[in-house]
Amino acid sequence: MTESAPPPMMEPINLFDFEKLAEQAMAPAEFDYVAGAATDELTLRRTRSAYEHIALRPRILAGNASADLSTTVLGQRIEVPFMLAPSGGHKRAHPDGELATARAAERMGTVMGLTANSSVPLEDVAAETGGPKWFQTYFYRDRELTLEMVKRAEAAGFGAVILTLDAHWPSKRERNIRNKYKRRARVNYTAEHEAQAEANARSMFDSGQASRGLNDPAASWADIEWLKTATDLPLVAKGIMTSEDAALCAEHGVDGLIVSNHGARNLDTTLATIEVLPEVAAAAGERVEVYLDGGIRRGTDVVKAIALGAKGVFFGRPIFWGLSYGGSDGLVRLMEILRDEVESTMMLTGRGTIDSIDASLVAPMPALA
Ligand SMILES: Cc1cc2nc3c(=O)[nH]c(=O)nc-3n(C[C@H](O)[C@H](O)[C@H](O)COP(=O)(O)O)c2cc1C
Repeated sequence: MTESAPPPMMEPINLFDFEKLAEQAMAPAEFDYVAGAATDELTLRRTRSAYEHIALRPRILAGNASADLSTTVLGQRIEVPFMLAPSGGHKRAHPDGELATARAAERMGTVMGLTANSSVPLEDVAAETGGPKWFQTYFYRDRELTLEMVKRAEAAGFGAVILTLDAHWPSKRERNIRNKYKRRARVNYTAEHEAQAEANARSMFDSGQASRGLNDPAASWADIEWLKTATDLPLVAKGIMTSEDAALCAEHGVDGLIVSNHGARNLDTTLATIEVLPEVAAAAGERVEVYLDGGIRRGTDVVKAIALGAKGVFFGRPIFWGLSYGGSDGLVRLMEILRDEVESTMMLTGRGTIDSIDASLVAPMPALA
């Protein structure tokens, strides 16, 4: 749907409505590519349902006339505590692709995470927005390429580098295998690197995962040390699921980390991200800012993640749903709905600021007898 096209019949009132509309609007294999996850998709379901096992403990008479949803991430003020997760190929949902996403993020006053696997060149996306933007890349087998990506991001004005560390090996995404899914062209790589990725993508599992042939499965913490000497941009480690790795992030001077299981797209049968957040936050301590992604669909999810130690959250799949609904406007509408839900949750739990959201706001939800 183009931005000028009339809205579809159903007026979405929550993120799940956007998902239903996207399923109707997108080509089935593209919708499956976005929706799908690794093997049995057990972690996909758990990552979402885990929020239902956390109860809120609302406080009354808190004296707040309104809620301030703004916060800071890596010293940057953002107007809402949610950000856009780096995710490949937004043109599969709208012809404007990442340009529409960039405009939407700026309008909402939040961070856009842009992946190296974008369907619009990173420089063009950067030029489209004056808003905060972080560039997501990998440790490639070719360290020159690693450096080149970071330098291009620096030159284009990105404010941080997100290093995705849980995509160093092919994953088995069975929806894509059944659909004989053909990975979309990525534009930030040279033809040679693209051919390498393509050749590898035909082997083993045709998951459509961009990083298959390019990423270095043997990367280690020494590479973090190396990259720190090569750039002044803050480094954010994405894909942290254990206290051990959170402690190593702190030890190696990483500035931020994202508790993430890659939307359950790579390794199945892990815990939900919200389940491991407390142990990760405790191990990261004060030195590393902690964020979370995975299954964020409701304002209550956002608030629960903040209560359990996240400074902010990211969402991935809903970006495609918003874009599919109506490009930049569609994604803004989706974020307005999420923002209103966060605001309502804060007001009804007696929390007027993001900083006032703490662990006393949540409790395990006991199973009903
Ligand atoms: C279609 C799609 C493409 C993705 N591409 C990337 C990527 O290029 N790099 C990356 O680090 N994560 C990627 N992710 C993972 C997201 O950054 C994020 O971890 C995940 O989507 C969060 O879960 P959610 O979709 O439940 O919100 C992708 C996710 C989706 C759905």
